Amino acid sequence: MREPHTVTVLGAGTMGAGIAQACASGGHAVTVVDRQPEALERCGATIDASLERLLRKGSIATEAATATRERVRTSTDLAAALDGTDVVIEAVYEDLAVKQDLWRAVDEHSRPDALLATNTSSLSVTEIAQVLRHPERFCGLHFFNPVPVLPLVEVVRAEHTSATTLDEAVAFVSGIGKTPIVCGDTPGFIVNRLLIPYVNDAIHALGEGVARAVDIDTAMKLGANLPMGPLALADLIGLDVTLAVIESLHRETADPRFRPAPRLRQLVRAGKLGRKSGEGFHRYE
Ligand code: CAA
Repeated sequence: MREPHTVTVLGAGTMGAGIAQACASGGHAVTVVDRQPEALERCGATIDASLERLLRKGSIATEAATATRERVRTSTDLAAALDGTDVVIEAVYEDLAVKQDLWRAVDEHSRPDALLATNTSSLSVTEIAQVLRHPERFCGLHFFNPVPVLPLVEVVRAEHTSATTLDEAVAFVSGIGKTPIVCGDTPGFIVNRLLIPYVNDAIHALGEGVARAVDIDTAMKLGANLPMGPLALADLIGLDVTLAVIESLHRETADPRFRPAPRLRQLVRAGKLGRKSGEGFHRYE
């Protein structure tokens, strides 16, 4: 692939915005595609706020921030955005049917040699790829929230992913200054396989009356030296995403260790999704 690439990011949510920013700061020209113009507006505002924060902390120079912002465009026109693009990264809602429908459309409009990737955190990459004509060009690129800060990207080798595709994906991730770790297409990959059961267990502990939410979080911050407590982390990840990951681990393994905490399901049903909705285990301005 020629450098720098044109990158199309599908989905303008928290992850889409973070991935777009990371690719743009790596020098690539990025188009974020979403059906909803309001989501695209929010995405632009999220990137502005993040760059502002990095500028305030002195982690990025003004020229670099301006150049990064200028490399990000938004569009509601999927076909036009995909025309000639080198890399497609999908970060839409965690629903197999939604993702496969979108990938069918991408397949129709993208170059046969484009690098294709999903940021799924709870679905099988191999299963998403079933709708593609060239599943050997498809892999998982799993970023972590907040994307501008966390250096890891899990590069997921699905059943049909070719060695060339995997090499290109690893090179792409390194090229944007992130650290790639290759893993198999197993539920939760590496990080969520270990992290989400811990978060889920903290929600069970809350339900069992072990302590108040704020005290569980403070205990894990101060007693285990973690940057944030497990319930605040669930709020950051999104309670819907947290539930989707633990449900997927439970479904795929039938292991009772991964039984979703009832309180998690209740909050998701109530639309309390964490930071993005203003309330989860904690309240946000
Ligand atoms: N954009 C840009 N910079 C940001 C940012 C953003 N969205 N969020 C935080 N930062 C920066 C801050 O500017 C600050 O920079 P410096 O270190 O240069 O000062 C740094 O990150 C730390 O931020 P704060 O001081 O404001 O706050 P903090 O120290 O509490 O850190 C945090 C915030 C980075 C979120 C930290 O608490 C943390 O790393 N928490 C754990 C997050 C985590 O585990 N994420 C993985 C979730 S799992 C996942 O995402 C995968 C999945 O599929 C579910």
